[in-house]
Amino acid sequence: MYYPDELVEEIRAKNDIVEVISGYVKMQRKGNNYFGLCPFHSEKSPSFSVSPGKQIFYCFGCGAGGNVFTFLMEYENYSFQEAIKALAQRAGVSLPEETDSREAREKDNKRAKLLEINKEAAKYFYYQLRGKSGQAGYQYLKKRELSDETIHRFGLGFANMTGDDLTVYLKRKGYEDRLIQEAGLAAFDEKHGIHDKFWNRVMFPIQDSNHRVIGFGGRVMGDAKPKYLNSPETQIFDKSRNLYGLNFARTSRKGNIILCEGYMDVISMHQAGFTQAAASLGTAFTEGQANLLRRYAQEVILAYDSDGAGVKAALRAIGILKEAGLSGKVLNLEPYKDPDEFLKNRGQAAFEERIRQAENSFFFEIRMLQREYDLSDPESKTLFHREIARRLCGFSEEVERENYIEAVADKYHIGFENLRKLVRSYAAKTGFAAPPVRPKSGIREKSAPDEGRKKAQKLLLTWLVEEPAVYKKIKKYISPDDFTDELYRKIAEGLFGELEREELNPAALISLFTQEDEQREAAGVFHTKLIQLQTKAEQEKAFHDILVTVKRNSLESLSAGLGNDLSALSRVIEGKKALEELSKTHISLD
Ligand code: GTP
Ligand code: MN
Repeated sequence: MYYPDELVEEIRAKNDIVEVISGYVKMQRKGNNYFGLCPFHSEKSPSFSVSPGKQIFYCFGCGAGGNVFTFLMEYENYSFQEAIKALAQRAGVSLPEETDSREAREKDNKRAKLLEINKEAAKYFYYQLRGKSGQAGYQYLKKRELSDETIHRFGLGFANMTGDDLTVYLKRKGYEDRLIQEAGLAAFDEKHGIHDKFWNRVMFPIQDSNHRVIGFGGRVMGDAKPKYLNSPETQIFDKSRNLYGLNFARTSRKGNIILCEGYMDVISMHQAGFTQAAASLGTAFTEGQANLLRRYAQEVILAYDSDGAGVKAALRAIGILKEAGLSGKVLNLEPYKDPDEFLKNRGQAAFEERIRQAENSFFFEIRMLQREYDLSDPESKTLFHREIARRLCGFSEEVERENYIEAVADKYHIGFENLRKLVRSYAAKTGFAAPPVRPKSGIREKSAPDEGRKKAQKLLLTWLVEEPAVYKKIKKYISPDDFTDELYRKIAEGLFGELEREELNPAALISLFTQEDEQREAAGVFHTKLIQLQTKAEQEKAFHDILVTVKRNSLESLSAGLGNDLSALSRVIEGKKALEELSKTHISLD
Protein backbone atom coordinates (compact mmCIF):
# COMPACT_ATOMS: atom_id res chain seq x y z
CA MET A 1 0.00 0.00 0.00
CA TYR A 2 1.34 3.39 -0.91
CA TYR A 3 0.40 6.03 1.62
CA PRO A 4 0.60 9.72 0.71
CA ASP A 5 3.45 11.66 2.31
CA GLU A 6 1.09 13.90 4.28
CA LEU A 7 -0.57 10.89 5.87
CA VAL A 8 2.78 9.32 6.72
CA GLU A 9 3.82 12.59 8.31
CA GLU A 10 0.56 12.87 10.25
CA ILE A 11 1.04 9.39 11.69
CA ARG A 12 4.63 10.13 12.54
CA ALA A 13 3.75 13.41 14.25
CA LYS A 14 1.04 11.74 16.33
CA ASN A 15 3.44 9.15 17.70
CA ASP A 16 5.87 10.82 20.02
CA ILE A 17 9.15 8.98 19.62
CA VAL A 18 9.99 9.14 23.32
CA GLU A 19 6.67 7.58 24.27
CA VAL A 20 6.93 4.85 21.69
CA ILE A 21 10.52 3.90 22.45
CA SER A 22 9.84 4.03 26.20
CA GLY A 23 7.66 1.01 25.62
CA TYR A 24 10.75 -0.93 24.59
CA VAL A 25 13.75 0.68 26.23
CA LYS A 26 14.22 2.04 29.71
CA MET A 27 15.45 5.58 29.36
CA GLN A 28 16.47 8.51 31.49
CA ARG A 29 16.42 12.15 30.69
CA LYS A 30 19.78 13.90 30.51
CA GLY A 31 19.67 17.47 29.31
CA ASN A 32 17.61 17.68 26.17
CA ASN A 33 17.78 14.00 25.35
CA TYR A 34 16.85 10.64 26.71
CA PHE A 35 19.44 7.92 27.11
CA GLY A 36 19.23 4.16 27.52
CA LEU A 37 20.91 0.88 26.65
CA CYS A 38 20.82 0.34 22.92
CA PRO A 39 18.45 -2.46 21.91
CA PHE A 40 20.37 -3.00 18.68
CA HIS A 41 23.76 -3.94 20.00
CA SER A 42 25.09 -5.20 23.29
CA GLU A 43 26.48 -2.62 25.66
CA LYS A 44 26.91 -1.90 29.33
CA SER A 45 26.67 1.86 29.42
CA PRO A 46 23.98 3.78 27.57
CA SER A 47 24.87 5.24 24.19
CA PHE A 48 21.39 5.09 22.74
CA SER A 49 19.80 8.53 22.64
CA VAL A 50 16.40 9.86 21.70
CA SER A 51 15.84 13.49 20.90
CA PRO A 52 12.31 14.70 21.66
CA GLY A 53 13.05 17.94 19.80
CA LYS A 54 14.13 16.33 16.58
CA GLN A 55 11.97 13.23 17.08
CA ILE A 56 14.81 10.95 16.12
CA PHE A 57 16.93 8.34 17.86
CA TYR A 58 20.60 7.68 17.43
CA CYS A 59 23.06 5.24 18.93
CA PHE A 60 26.63 6.48 19.33
CA GLY A 61 27.77 2.94 19.78
CA CYS A 62 26.43 1.14 16.73
CA GLY A 63 25.20 3.93 14.50
CA ALA A 64 21.59 2.81 14.54
CA GLY A 65 19.31 5.74 14.01
CA GLY A 66 16.16 7.07 12.44
CA ASN A 67 12.67 8.22 13.26
CA VAL A 68 9.86 6.40 15.00
CA PHE A 69 9.17 4.31 11.89
CA THR A 70 12.79 3.21 11.66
CA PHE A 71 12.72 2.15 15.27
CA LEU A 72 9.80 -0.20 14.75
CA MET A 73 11.27 -1.48 11.49
CA GLU A 74 14.48 -2.39 13.23
CA TYR A 75 13.05 -3.61 16.48
CA GLU A 76 10.06 -5.53 15.18
CA ASN A 77 11.58 -6.30 11.81
CA TYR A 78 8.63 -4.55 10.16
CA SER A 79 8.59 -3.24 6.63
CA PHE A 80 7.96 0.49 6.28
CA GLN A 81 4.31 -0.24 5.50
CA GLU A 82 3.93 -2.46 8.53
CA ALA A 83 5.45 0.22 10.76
CA ILE A 84 3.04 2.79 9.34
CA LYS A 85 0.10 0.50 10.03
CA ALA A 86 1.15 -0.24 13.59
CA LEU A 87 1.67 3.42 14.44
CA ALA A 88 -1.53 4.51 12.72
CA GLN A 89 -3.39 2.11 14.91
CA ARG A 90 -1.57 3.28 18.01
CA ALA A 91 -2.49 6.91 17.33
CA GLY A 92 -6.01 6.11 16.17
CA VAL A 93 -5.42 7.41 12.66
CA SER A 94 -7.54 5.55 10.17
CA LEU A 95 -5.81 4.49 7.02
CA PRO A 96 -7.58 4.85 3.70
CA GLU A 97 -9.56 1.89 2.49
CA GLU A 98 -7.16 -0.26 0.65
CA THR A 99 -9.47 -0.86 -2.27
CA ASP A 100 -7.68 1.73 -4.35
CA SER A 101 -4.52 -0.29 -4.29
CA ARG A 102 -5.37 -3.89 -4.81
CA GLU A 103 -1.90 -4.53 -6.06
CA ALA A 104 -0.27 -3.30 -2.88
CA ARG A 105 -2.68 -5.17 -0.68
CA GLU A 106 -1.96 -8.32 -2.60
CA LYS A 107 1.70 -7.73 -2.05
CA ASP A 108 1.22 -7.49 1.72
CA ASN A 109 -0.94 -10.56 1.63
CA LYS A 110 1.65 -12.30 -0.44
CA ARG A 111 4.32 -11.72 2.20
CA ALA A 112 2.09 -13.12 4.89
CA LYS A 113 1.15 -16.09 2.73
CA LEU A 114 4.77 -16.84 1.88
CA LEU A 115 5.72 -16.76 5.54
CA GLU A 116 2.84 -19.05 6.32
CA ILE A 117 3.61 -21.60 3.66
CA ASN A 118 7.29 -21.70 4.60
CA LYS A 119 6.34 -22.33 8.19
CA GLU A 120 4.04 -25.10 7.09
CA ALA A 121 6.79 -26.66 4.98
CA ALA A 122 9.28 -26.40 7.85
CA LYS A 123 6.86 -28.24 10.08
CA TYR A 124 6.38 -30.90 7.47
CA PHE A 125 10.13 -31.46 7.01
CA TYR A 126 10.58 -31.46 10.76
CA TYR A 127 8.10 -34.30 11.22
CA GLN A 128 9.48 -36.23 8.26
CA LEU A 129 12.89 -36.26 9.92
CA ARG A 130 11.37 -37.89 12.97
CA GLY A 131 9.34 -40.41 11.02
CA LYS A 132 10.23 -43.63 9.37
CA SER A 133 11.01 -42.14 5.99
CA GLY A 134 13.36 -39.66 7.65
CA GLN A 135 15.68 -42.25 9.15
CA ALA A 136 18.41 -41.65 6.59
CA GLY A 137 18.37 -37.92 7.30
CA TYR A 138 18.38 -38.38 11.04
CA GLN A 139 21.28 -40.84 10.83
CA TYR A 140 23.19 -38.40 8.64
CA LEU A 141 22.83 -35.58 11.17
CA LYS A 142 23.84 -37.92 13.95
CA LYS A 143 26.88 -38.95 12.00
CA ARG A 144 27.76 -35.29 11.84
CA GLU A 145 27.61 -35.27 15.61
CA LEU A 146 24.59 -33.06 16.11
CA SER A 147 22.67 -33.60 19.32
CA ASP A 148 18.90 -33.99 19.37
CA GLU A 149 18.74 -30.67 21.13
CA THR A 150 20.68 -28.95 18.35
CA ILE A 151 18.58 -30.60 15.66
CA HIS A 152 15.50 -29.35 17.43
CA ARG A 153 16.82 -25.86 18.06
CA PHE A 154 17.61 -25.27 14.41
CA GLY A 155 14.39 -26.95 13.32
CA LEU A 156 16.26 -29.29 11.01
CA GLY A 157 14.13 -31.53 8.86
CA PHE A 158 14.07 -33.92 5.99
CA ALA A 159 12.67 -33.92 2.47
CA ASN A 160 12.08 -37.55 1.69
CA MET A 161 12.37 -39.70 -1.41
CA THR A 162 8.90 -39.11 -2.76
CA GLY A 163 8.90 -36.46 -5.45
CA ASP A 164 5.68 -34.65 -4.63
CA ASP A 165 4.62 -35.39 -1.07
CA LEU A 166 5.21 -31.84 0.18
CA THR A 167 3.23 -30.39 -2.69
CA VAL A 168 0.38 -32.79 -2.05
CA TYR A 169 0.49 -31.96 1.65
CA LEU A 170 0.45 -28.22 1.05
CA LYS A 171 -2.37 -28.47 -1.46
CA ARG A 172 -4.40 -30.44 1.00
CA LYS A 173 -3.84 -27.60 3.45
CA GLY A 174 -5.45 -25.29 0.92
CA TYR A 175 -2.44 -23.66 -0.73
CA GLU A 176 -2.57 -23.06 -4.46
CA ASP A 177 -0.06 -24.47 -6.91
CA ARG A 178 1.03 -21.00 -7.81
CA LEU A 179 1.96 -20.01 -4.26
CA ILE A 180 3.79 -23.27 -3.68
CA GLN A 181 5.88 -22.58 -6.74
CA GLU A 182 6.40 -18.93 -5.91
CA ALA A 183 7.70 -19.93 -2.51
CA GLY A 184 10.27 -22.04 -4.33
CA LEU A 185 9.02 -25.23 -2.74
CA ALA A 186 7.93 -26.81 -5.99
CA ALA A 187 8.71 -26.52 -9.67
CA PHE A 188 6.76 -27.35 -12.76
CA ASP A 189 7.84 -29.08 -15.92
CA GLU A 190 6.01 -30.78 -18.76
CA LYS A 191 7.31 -34.20 -17.93
CA HIS A 192 6.69 -34.35 -14.18
CA GLY A 193 4.02 -31.74 -13.73
CA ILE A 194 4.32 -29.93 -10.43
CA HIS A 195 6.89 -31.57 -8.19
CA ASP A 196 8.81 -30.85 -4.99
CA LYS A 197 11.97 -28.86 -5.32
CA PHE A 198 13.65 -30.55 -2.36
CA TRP A 199 13.98 -34.26 -2.52
CA ASN A 200 16.04 -36.66 -0.45
CA ARG A 201 17.88 -33.94 1.44
CA VAL A 202 18.32 -32.84 5.03
CA MET A 203 16.63 -29.51 5.37
CA PHE A 204 17.89 -26.36 7.06
CA PRO A 205 15.12 -23.82 7.53
CA ILE A 206 16.49 -20.32 7.13
CA GLN A 207 15.01 -17.84 9.59
CA ASP A 208 14.99 -14.08 9.72
CA SER A 209 16.08 -12.36 12.89
CA ASN A 210 12.60 -12.83 14.33
CA HIS A 211 12.65 -16.58 13.86
CA ARG A 212 10.31 -16.55 10.89
CA VAL A 213 11.13 -19.16 8.25
CA ILE A 214 11.93 -17.36 5.01
CA GLY A 215 13.55 -20.10 2.98
CA PHE A 216 15.46 -23.37 3.06
CA GLY A 217 18.80 -24.89 2.36
CA GLY A 218 18.77 -28.59 1.59
CA ARG A 219 21.89 -30.76 1.73
CA VAL A 220 22.46 -34.07 0.01
CA MET A 221 23.53 -36.80 2.37
CA GLY A 222 26.43 -37.97 0.28
CA ASP A 223 28.74 -36.46 -2.27
CA ALA A 224 26.20 -35.81 -5.01
CA LYS A 225 26.02 -32.42 -6.65
CA PRO A 226 24.82 -29.86 -5.98
CA LYS A 227 25.74 -30.25 -2.35
CA TYR A 228 23.25 -27.61 -1.26
CA LEU A 229 20.07 -26.55 -2.88
CA ASN A 230 18.74 -23.21 -1.63
CA SER A 231 15.32 -21.62 -1.96
CA PRO A 232 15.23 -18.95 -4.65
CA GLU A 233 14.87 -15.33 -3.58
CA THR A 234 11.26 -14.37 -2.95
CA GLN A 235 9.50 -11.36 -1.51
CA ILE A 236 10.40 -12.58 1.95
CA PHE A 237 13.76 -14.17 1.18
CA ASP A 238 16.42 -11.61 0.38
CA LYS A 239 19.76 -13.37 0.55
CA SER A 240 21.69 -10.15 0.80
CA ARG A 241 19.82 -8.96 3.88
CA ASN A 242 19.60 -12.01 6.09
CA LEU A 243 22.09 -14.26 7.80
CA TYR A 244 21.75 -17.85 8.86
CA GLY A 245 21.73 -18.18 12.64
CA LEU A 246 21.32 -14.47 13.31
CA ASN A 247 18.00 -15.10 15.03
CA PHE A 248 20.00 -16.67 17.86
CA ALA A 249 23.27 -14.80 17.45
CA ARG A 250 21.61 -11.41 17.85
CA THR A 251 20.82 -12.08 21.49
CA SER A 252 24.02 -13.94 22.35
CA ARG A 253 25.57 -10.80 23.82
CA LYS A 254 29.13 -11.97 23.40
CA GLY A 255 30.35 -8.63 22.17
CA ASN A 256 31.23 -10.05 18.77
CA ILE A 257 29.68 -11.97 15.92
CA ILE A 258 31.47 -14.87 14.30
CA LEU A 259 30.81 -14.81 10.60
CA CYS A 260 31.33 -18.00 8.63
CA GLU A 261 30.38 -19.54 5.31
CA GLY A 262 28.41 -22.66 6.03
CA TYR A 263 25.15 -23.65 7.69
CA MET A 264 26.88 -26.63 9.27
CA ASP A 265 29.57 -24.34 10.63
CA VAL A 266 26.97 -22.16 12.33
CA ILE A 267 25.23 -25.14 13.85
CA SER A 268 28.46 -26.72 15.07
CA MET A 269 29.58 -23.50 16.65
CA HIS A 270 26.26 -22.95 18.40
CA GLN A 271 26.35 -26.50 19.67
CA ALA A 272 29.77 -25.82 21.11
CA GLY A 273 28.51 -22.72 22.88
CA PHE A 274 29.57 -20.12 20.32
CA THR A 275 26.06 -18.83 19.93
CA GLN A 276 27.24 -15.64 18.27
CA ALA A 277 27.90 -17.42 14.96
CA ALA A 278 26.08 -16.57 11.73
CA ALA A 279 26.63 -17.28 8.04
CA SER A 280 25.76 -15.73 4.74
CA LEU A 281 23.29 -17.63 2.62
CA GLY A 282 25.39 -19.35 0.01
CA THR A 283 26.21 -15.98 -1.54
CA ALA A 284 28.99 -13.47 -0.90
CA PHE A 285 28.81 -11.23 2.17
CA THR A 286 27.09 -7.94 1.44
CA GLU A 287 26.90 -4.39 2.70
CA GLY A 288 23.30 -5.01 3.74
CA GLN A 289 24.43 -7.86 5.93
CA ALA A 290 27.19 -5.74 7.44
CA ASN A 291 24.63 -3.12 8.37
CA LEU A 292 22.51 -5.80 9.93
CA LEU A 293 25.43 -7.05 12.01
CA ARG A 294 26.25 -3.57 13.18
CA ARG A 295 23.06 -3.60 15.20
CA TYR A 296 24.30 -6.42 17.33
CA ALA A 297 28.05 -6.12 17.68
CA GLN A 298 30.96 -3.84 17.03
CA GLU A 299 33.38 -6.59 16.17
CA VAL A 300 33.05 -9.31 13.58
CA ILE A 301 35.32 -12.32 13.65
CA LEU A 302 35.67 -13.97 10.28
CA ALA A 303 35.78 -17.74 10.37
CA TYR A 304 35.98 -18.44 6.66
CA ASP A 305 37.41 -21.55 5.06
CA SER A 306 41.17 -21.62 5.19
CA ASP A 307 41.56 -22.39 1.46
CA GLY A 308 42.27 -19.88 -1.29
CA ALA A 309 38.63 -19.14 -1.97
CA GLY A 310 38.04 -18.59 1.74
CA VAL A 311 40.92 -16.12 2.00
CA LYS A 312 39.66 -14.24 -1.00
CA ALA A 313 36.17 -14.08 0.47
CA ALA A 314 37.61 -12.93 3.81
CA LEU A 315 39.56 -10.10 2.16
CA ARG A 316 36.41 -8.96 0.47
CA ALA A 317 34.41 -9.18 3.67
CA ILE A 318 37.03 -7.11 5.52
CA GLY A 319 36.54 -4.27 3.06
CA ILE A 320 32.79 -4.38 3.52
CA LEU A 321 33.04 -4.50 7.30
CA LYS A 322 35.40 -1.56 7.32
CA GLU A 323 33.06 0.46 5.21
CA ALA A 324 30.23 -0.30 7.61
CA GLY A 325 32.40 0.92 10.48
CA LEU A 326 32.85 -2.50 12.03
CA SER A 327 36.13 -3.82 13.23
CA GLY A 328 37.13 -7.14 11.79
CA LYS A 329 39.31 -10.00 12.92
CA VAL A 330 40.25 -13.18 11.18
CA LEU A 331 40.25 -16.58 12.77
CA ASN A 332 42.98 -19.00 11.85
CA LEU A 333 41.54 -22.49 11.53
CA GLU A 334 44.63 -24.22 10.18
CA PRO A 335 45.16 -27.04 9.63
CA TYR A 336 41.42 -27.55 9.36
CA LYS A 337 39.16 -26.39 6.62
CA ASP A 338 36.31 -24.79 8.48
CA PRO A 339 34.93 -24.21 12.00
CA ASP A 340 32.94 -27.43 11.94
CA GLU A 341 36.01 -29.53 11.21
CA PHE A 342 38.10 -27.60 13.68
CA LEU A 343 35.61 -28.16 16.48
CA LYS A 344 35.30 -31.85 15.72
CA ASN A 345 39.03 -32.34 15.84
CA ARG A 346 40.16 -29.89 18.48
CA GLY A 347 37.12 -29.10 20.56
CA GLN A 348 35.69 -26.07 22.21
CA ALA A 349 38.61 -24.90 24.33
CA ALA A 350 40.99 -24.84 21.39
CA PHE A 351 38.44 -22.89 19.38
CA GLU A 352 38.08 -20.41 22.19
CA GLU A 353 41.84 -20.00 22.15
CA ARG A 354 41.79 -19.34 18.41
CA ILE A 355 39.18 -16.66 18.95
CA ARG A 356 41.49 -15.01 21.47
CA GLN A 357 44.30 -15.15 18.93
CA ALA A 358 42.19 -13.89 16.03
CA GLU A 359 44.25 -11.63 13.82
CA ASN A 360 43.49 -7.97 13.36
CA SER A 361 42.08 -7.60 9.85
CA PHE A 362 44.70 -5.08 8.76
CA PHE A 363 47.53 -7.43 9.67
CA PHE A 364 45.72 -10.22 7.90
CA GLU A 365 45.48 -8.11 4.76
CA ILE A 366 49.16 -7.23 4.90
CA ARG A 367 50.14 -10.83 5.52
CA MET A 368 48.13 -11.96 2.51
CA LEU A 369 49.58 -9.12 0.47
CA GLN A 370 53.08 -10.23 1.31
CA ARG A 371 52.51 -13.49 -0.52
CA GLU A 372 52.42 -11.53 -3.76
CA TYR A 373 55.93 -10.15 -3.31
CA ASP A 374 59.40 -11.61 -3.31
CA LEU A 375 61.06 -10.05 -0.30
CA SER A 376 64.50 -11.26 -1.32
CA ASP A 377 64.32 -8.97 -4.32
CA PRO A 378 64.92 -5.33 -3.32
CA GLU A 379 62.66 -4.00 -6.02
CA SER A 380 59.76 -6.22 -5.11
CA LYS A 381 60.37 -5.52 -1.44
CA THR A 382 60.20 -1.77 -2.08
CA LEU A 383 56.94 -2.18 -3.90
CA PHE A 384 55.64 -4.14 -0.95
CA HIS A 385 56.61 -1.38 1.46
CA ARG A 386 55.03 1.24 -0.74
CA GLU A 387 51.81 -0.70 -0.84
CA ILE A 388 51.87 -0.96 2.93
CA ALA A 389 52.36 2.78 3.18
CA ARG A 390 49.52 3.36 0.82
CA ARG A 391 47.21 1.26 2.89
CA LEU A 392 48.33 2.89 6.11
CA CYS A 393 47.07 6.16 4.70
CA GLY A 394 43.65 4.66 5.03
CA PHE A 395 43.63 5.35 8.75
CA SER A 396 42.41 8.89 8.88
CA GLU A 397 42.88 9.29 12.60
CA GLU A 398 46.45 10.21 13.41
CA VAL A 399 46.87 8.24 16.62
CA GLU A 400 45.52 5.13 15.03
CA ARG A 401 47.70 5.56 11.96
CA GLU A 402 50.81 6.07 14.05
CA ASN A 403 50.04 2.98 16.07
CA TYR A 404 49.66 0.93 12.96
CA ILE A 405 52.83 2.31 11.44
CA GLU A 406 54.65 1.30 14.56
CA ALA A 407 53.16 -2.18 14.63
CA VAL A 408 53.69 -2.88 10.96
CA ALA A 409 57.24 -1.52 11.00
CA ASP A 410 57.98 -3.83 13.86
CA LYS A 411 56.37 -6.85 12.29
CA TYR A 412 58.01 -6.49 8.90
CA HIS A 413 61.34 -5.12 10.05
CA ILE A 414 60.97 -1.81 8.33
CA GLY A 415 62.57 1.22 10.02
CA PHE A 416 59.79 3.08 11.83
CA GLU A 417 60.91 6.51 10.66
CA ASN A 418 61.35 5.30 7.11
CA LEU A 419 57.90 3.84 6.97
CA ARG A 420 56.47 6.92 8.55
CA LYS A 421 58.13 9.09 5.93
CA LEU A 422 56.82 6.89 3.20
CA VAL A 423 53.31 7.15 4.59
CA ARG A 424 53.65 10.93 4.84
CA SER A 425 54.78 11.30 1.28
CA TYR A 426 52.01 9.08 0.14
CA ALA A 427 49.51 10.99 2.17
CA ALA A 428 50.73 14.28 0.78
CA LYS A 429 50.02 13.02 -2.70
CA THR A 430 46.61 11.64 -1.98
CA GLY A 431 45.18 13.43 1.04
CA PHE A 432 45.08 11.90 4.47
CA ALA A 433 41.46 11.02 4.72
CA ALA A 434 41.62 8.59 1.83
CA PRO A 435 40.03 5.30 2.80
CA PRO A 436 42.05 2.13 2.56
CA VAL A 437 42.44 0.73 -0.89
CA ARG A 438 40.59 -2.51 -1.09
CA PRO A 439 42.38 -5.69 -2.04
CA LYS A 440 42.51 -6.72 -5.66
CA SER A 441 39.83 -9.28 -5.06
CA GLY A 442 37.42 -6.60 -3.86
CA ILE A 443 34.72 -5.92 -6.38
CA ARG A 444 33.24 -3.02 -4.53
CA GLU A 445 36.16 -0.81 -5.38
CA LYS A 446 34.98 2.71 -4.79
CA SER A 447 37.36 5.51 -5.60
CA ALA A 448 38.87 7.21 -2.61
CA PRO A 449 37.70 10.72 -3.49
CA ASP A 450 34.17 9.41 -3.53
CA GLU A 451 34.28 8.91 0.22
CA GLY A 452 35.60 12.39 0.87
CA ARG A 453 32.89 13.80 -1.33
CA LYS A 454 30.16 11.99 0.48
CA LYS A 455 31.51 13.10 3.80
CA ALA A 456 31.51 16.77 2.84
CA GLN A 457 27.95 16.50 1.60
CA LYS A 458 26.86 14.84 4.78
CA LEU A 459 28.56 17.47 6.92
CA LEU A 460 26.97 20.27 4.97
CA LEU A 461 23.53 18.82 5.62
CA THR A 462 24.36 18.45 9.29
CA TRP A 463 25.39 22.08 9.48
CA LEU A 464 22.20 23.23 7.86
CA VAL A 465 20.14 21.31 10.36
CA GLU A 466 22.13 22.72 13.27
CA GLU A 467 22.34 26.26 11.98
CA PRO A 468 19.24 26.76 9.86
CA ALA A 469 19.73 30.51 9.82
CA VAL A 470 22.75 30.13 7.60
CA TYR A 471 20.61 28.69 4.84
CA LYS A 472 19.65 32.12 3.51
CA LYS A 473 23.29 33.06 3.15
CA ILE A 474 24.31 30.01 1.20
CA LYS A 475 21.34 29.23 -0.98
CA LYS A 476 22.60 31.35 -3.83
CA TYR A 477 25.73 29.21 -4.04
CA ILE A 478 24.46 25.72 -3.38
CA SER A 479 21.42 23.82 -4.51
CA PRO A 480 20.30 20.23 -3.97
CA ASP A 481 21.75 19.44 -7.40
CA ASP A 482 25.21 19.99 -5.96
CA PHE A 483 24.81 16.86 -3.89
CA THR A 484 26.22 14.15 -6.11
CA ASP A 485 25.39 11.36 -3.71
CA GLU A 486 21.88 10.16 -4.42
CA LEU A 487 20.80 9.70 -0.84
CA TYR A 488 22.15 13.06 0.25
CA ARG A 489 20.60 14.75 -2.75
CA LYS A 490 17.23 13.41 -1.75
CA ILE A 491 17.71 14.68 1.80
CA ALA A 492 18.93 18.02 0.46
CA GLU A 493 15.84 18.38 -1.69
CA GLY A 494 13.62 17.81 1.32
CA LEU A 495 15.72 19.85 3.70
CA PHE A 496 16.10 22.87 1.38
CA GLY A 497 12.32 22.82 0.96
CA GLU A 498 11.82 22.82 4.71
CA LEU A 499 14.36 25.58 5.23
CA GLU A 500 12.68 27.63 2.53
CA ARG A 501 9.35 27.26 4.36
CA GLU A 502 11.14 27.78 7.67
CA GLU A 503 9.80 24.60 9.16
CA LEU A 504 12.69 22.32 9.95
CA ASN A 505 11.55 18.75 10.56
CA PRO A 506 14.35 16.15 10.46
CA ALA A 507 12.09 13.24 11.36
CA ALA A 508 9.89 13.91 8.36
CA LEU A 509 12.92 13.83 6.07
CA ILE A 510 13.73 10.34 7.27
CA SER A 511 10.34 9.13 6.10
CA LEU A 512 11.40 10.02 2.56
CA PHE A 513 13.14 6.68 2.64
CA THR A 514 11.49 3.32 2.94
CA GLN A 515 14.55 1.17 3.65
CA GLU A 516 16.04 0.87 7.10
CA ASP A 517 19.62 1.37 6.01
CA GLU A 518 18.73 4.51 4.11
CA GLN A 519 16.77 5.81 7.08
CA ARG A 520 19.72 5.06 9.28
CA GLU A 521 22.05 6.94 7.01
CA ALA A 522 19.63 9.85 6.80
CA ALA A 523 19.43 9.92 10.59
CA GLY A 524 23.22 10.06 10.72
CA VAL A 525 22.98 13.47 9.10
CA PHE A 526 21.09 14.81 12.09
CA HIS A 527 23.60 13.55 14.54
CA THR A 528 25.48 16.60 15.70
CA LYS A 529 28.55 15.03 17.28
CA LEU A 530 30.00 15.48 13.82
CA ILE A 531 30.51 19.16 14.17
CA GLN A 532 31.61 19.86 17.69
CA LEU A 533 34.34 22.37 17.29
CA GLN A 534 35.55 24.92 19.77
CA THR A 535 35.58 28.51 18.66
CA LYS A 536 33.28 30.38 16.35
CA ALA A 537 36.20 31.12 14.05
CA GLU A 538 37.03 27.43 13.79
CA GLN A 539 33.45 26.63 13.07
CA GLU A 540 33.18 29.25 10.39
CA LYS A 541 36.33 28.07 8.72
CA ALA A 542 35.19 24.44 8.77
CA PHE A 543 31.81 25.36 7.41
CA HIS A 544 33.34 27.45 4.64
CA ASP A 545 35.70 24.64 3.66
CA ILE A 546 32.83 22.21 3.45
CA LEU A 547 30.78 24.54 1.30
CA VAL A 548 33.64 25.06 -1.10
CA THR A 549 34.41 21.35 -1.22
CA VAL A 550 30.85 20.40 -2.02
CA LYS A 551 30.57 23.03 -4.72
CA ARG A 552 33.89 22.11 -6.27
CA ASN A 553 33.11 18.41 -6.28
CA SER A 554 29.75 19.03 -7.83
CA LEU A 555 31.36 21.04 -10.63
CA GLU A 556 33.98 18.38 -11.16
CA SER A 557 31.43 15.68 -11.53
CA LEU A 558 29.30 17.86 -13.77
CA SER A 559 32.27 18.64 -16.03
CA ALA A 560 33.32 15.02 -16.09
CA GLY A 561 30.01 13.95 -17.56
CA LEU A 562 29.71 16.97 -19.80
CA GLY A 563 30.02 15.61 -23.32
CA ASN A 564 28.23 17.84 -25.79
CA ASP A 565 25.53 18.99 -23.44
CA LEU A 566 25.42 22.75 -23.83
CA SER A 567 23.02 23.45 -21.01
CA ALA A 568 25.31 21.56 -18.66
CA LEU A 569 28.20 23.60 -19.96
CA SER A 570 26.47 26.82 -19.06
CA ARG A 571 25.71 25.38 -15.64
CA VAL A 572 29.38 24.63 -15.18
CA ILE A 573 30.30 28.14 -16.11
CA GLU A 574 27.75 29.60 -13.72
CA GLY A 575 28.85 27.18 -11.06
CA LYS A 576 32.45 28.23 -11.45
CA LYS A 577 31.47 31.82 -10.93
CA ALA A 578 29.54 30.90 -7.83
CA LEU A 579 32.48 28.91 -6.54
CA GLU A 580 34.87 31.74 -7.09
CA GLU A 581 32.60 34.15 -5.30
CA LEU A 582 31.99 31.69 -2.53
CA SER A 583 35.70 31.16 -2.00
CA LYS A 584 36.14 34.85 -1.33
CA THR A 585 33.03 35.33 0.78
CA HIS A 586 33.04 35.19 4.52
CA ILE A 587 29.94 33.46 5.79
CA SER A 588 29.28 34.15 9.42
CA LEU A 589 27.44 31.72 11.59
CA ASP A 590 25.56 34.34 13.55
P1 GTP B 1 29.27 -29.38 4.90
O1 GTP B 1 30.04 -29.72 3.67
O2 GTP B 1 28.06 -30.22 5.07
O3 GTP B 1 30.10 -29.28 6.11
O4 GTP B 1 28.62 -27.98 4.66
P2 GTP B 1 29.31 -26.56 4.71
O5 GTP B 1 28.26 -25.66 5.27
O6 GTP B 1 30.62 -26.61 5.37
O7 GTP B 1 29.46 -26.25 3.17
P3 GTP B 1 30.58 -25.52 2.36
O8 GTP B 1 31.66 -24.99 3.21
O9 GTP B 1 30.94 -26.42 1.23
O10 GTP B 1 29.76 -24.32 1.73
C1 GTP B 1 29.44 -23.19 2.48
C2 GTP B 1 28.08 -22.68 2.12
O11 GTP B 1 28.02 -22.42 0.72
C3 GTP B 1 26.97 -23.68 2.38
O12 GTP B 1 26.50 -23.64 3.70
C4 GTP B 1 25.93 -23.23 1.38
O13 GTP B 1 25.23 -22.08 1.87
C5 GTP B 1 26.76 -22.79 0.20
N1 GTP B 1 26.91 -23.90 -0.77
C6 GTP B 1 27.79 -24.92 -0.72
N2 GTP B 1 27.63 -25.75 -1.77
C7 GTP B 1 26.62 -25.23 -2.49
C8 GTP B 1 25.97 -25.62 -3.70
O14 GTP B 1 26.27 -26.64 -4.31
N3 GTP B 1 24.97 -24.82 -4.16
C9 GTP B 1 24.59 -23.70 -3.49
N4 GTP B 1 23.60 -22.96 -4.00
N5 GTP B 1 25.17 -23.30 -2.36
C10 GTP B 1 26.18 -24.04 -1.86
MN1 MN C 1 31.81 -28.04 6.33
